[in-house]
Amino acid sequence: MKKGILFSNETVFKTPEVFDFDYVPEEFLFRSDQIKEIANCLNPAINKKRPINCMLSGEPATGKTTSIKKIFEELTGYSHIIRVYINGRVHNTTFRVFSEIHKALFKYTPPESGIPVTSLYQKICEYLKVENKILIIAIDDAVFLEEADSVIYELSRAYELYPGIKIGIIAVLNEKEKYIIEEKSASVFCPSIIEYFPYSEEETFDILKIRTKIGLYDGVLSDNLIKLIAHYSNEYDLRFAIELLRQSAIECENRSQKAILKEHIEKAYSRILKKDKPGKEIDEKEKIILEILNAKNYESGDLFEILKKKIDISYSSFYRIIEKMEKKKLIVVSEKATNKGRTRVISKDK
Ligand SMILES: Nc1ncnc2c1ncn2[C@@H]1O[C@H](COP(=O)(O)OP(=O)(O)OP(=O)(O)O)[C@@H](O)[C@H]1O
Ligand SMILES: [Mg+2]
Repeated sequence: MKKGILFSNETVFKTPEVFDFDYVPEEFLFRSDQIKEIANCLNPAINKKRPINCMLSGEPATGKTTSIKKIFEELTGYSHIIRVYINGRVHNTTFRVFSEIHKALFKYTPPESGIPVTSLYQKICEYLKVENKILIIAIDDAVFLEEADSVIYELSRAYELYPGIKIGIIAVLNEKEKYIIEEKSASVFCPSIIEYFPYSEEETFDILKIRTKIGLYDGVLSDNLIKLIAHYSNEYDLRFAIELLRQSAIECENRSQKAILKEHIEKAYSRILKKDKPGKEIDEKEKIILEILNAKNYESGDLFEILKKKIDISYSSFYRIIEKMEKKKLIVVSEKATNKGRTRVISKDK
């Protein structure tokens, strides 16, 4: 094939990084209340006192992870404060969490085997006490951390075993996921709850406008078309909106045009939808779950126990499968109050 037909190095992107998922926006609009609330919880740490734990709760793409990044940036320069960011999807076991804390304190990762978690815990607590340091640990996507309950419990009550020790926890956990914290832990964790609400269409427009200004060359995307992107994204979330904007720009480049047109947005929209909408095909694991649910409805924890006897599966993958099955409308997940708190009940979608 003749070279130069398919690829071109002309671009509409001025700063492509602003469309990356881990980009931290300079201007964090509409979240000053939440940032202030988190700062209020952590403020005691600035004055060398024990911070207040907090729980960031809200729908996807409402700015929870970004808030942690912003707050952590603000905390640089306080040498008595040690910040540790944990992502429950990556650091999904107790050992991995304590290993990350160890790395932040001692500048090296402990060996994967041979050291029991309790020794790591003791070493961490003793260091914090002797060195008079305050640990602020953010546990993002906490539901994916297999033993989130016990991690939160142990960290919250560390000061009972090591008087004077100061640890503050920021956990990202929404209403539906709160059941993973048992009552015993909830009472020592005792977080201040900070709510994140989805962005309105107008707010999405304002956020997209700033991204466009930084990310694309002048004149590539008109305000009217930013409005259209915000409108198309209204039934999804801000992450979708940012991705739609990025893919519309790519579509425009692919057609060698200098400005984004309505048709580019429509093309990108239908492509993302095709990709994102889960199909109705049922895979092996889902089939087994549906068979179990044929007999009766189960509480989420019980369903997991039964499934674990049939297949090798971790709690985090179980959780992901349940989320996916709910989206595909194969099952219905509802909440129920029990004497131990709230729990999720899973039934087959009729
Ligand atoms: N107020 C805002 N201003 C600018 N960009 C924002 C704002 N809130 C969120 N974003 C952007 O939206 C995307 C999602 O934000 P973030 O990752 O913070 O959401 P989240 O609440 O942690 O979502 P999830 O629950 O899915 O983890 C990121 O690209 C982030 O930069
Ligand atoms: Mg997040």
